[in-house]
Amino acid sequence: AVERTLTILKPDCVRKNLIGEVTKRIQEAGFKIVAMKMTKLTEDTAGGFYAVHKERPFFGELVEFMSSGPCVPMILEKENAIADFRELIGATNPEEADEGTIRADFADSVGENIVHGSDSVENGKIEANYFFAESEVVANKA
Ligand code: CMP
Repeated sequence: AVERTLTILKPDCVRKNLIGEVTKRIQEAGFKIVAMKMTKLTEDTAGGFYAVHKERPFFGELVEFMSSGPCVPMILEKENAIADFRELIGATNPEEADEGTIRADFADSVGENIVHGSDSVENGKIEANYFFAESEVVANKA
């Protein structure tokens, strides 16, 4: 089925001038960008996005990193988007990520790992709504 996933090009991706390179890989893999913006999260908005991880030991570090600079959230559309995007980016820990994946090629650590990808269709919807109003999703507009 055609699915949507929410990705974030994280602050390390932006700082390393990799917006173009990562976006090119995403597009060449067949994902259609249906919404995109640059924004800077606050500790509050980053904490809200990652609320499911609130009790994890790395939560503070995660919030600090995600609010450390601008990021680029996008909604991507493709057949089987959730699983295919996770395959394209590789494992959360770049040391465990398959060769040729975005994280294997560009990420420094499990925390600074270049991109986020939704883990399910349901969470993808919640995450997309966190960043984008209905009117900002071009594919939804008449
Ligand atoms: P992401 O897919 O954006 O969702 C949760 C994030 O938590 C994950 O990517 C990692 O970047 C981050 N994370 C997971 N484990 C750790 C860890 N041990 N230390 C720091 N950050 C982590």
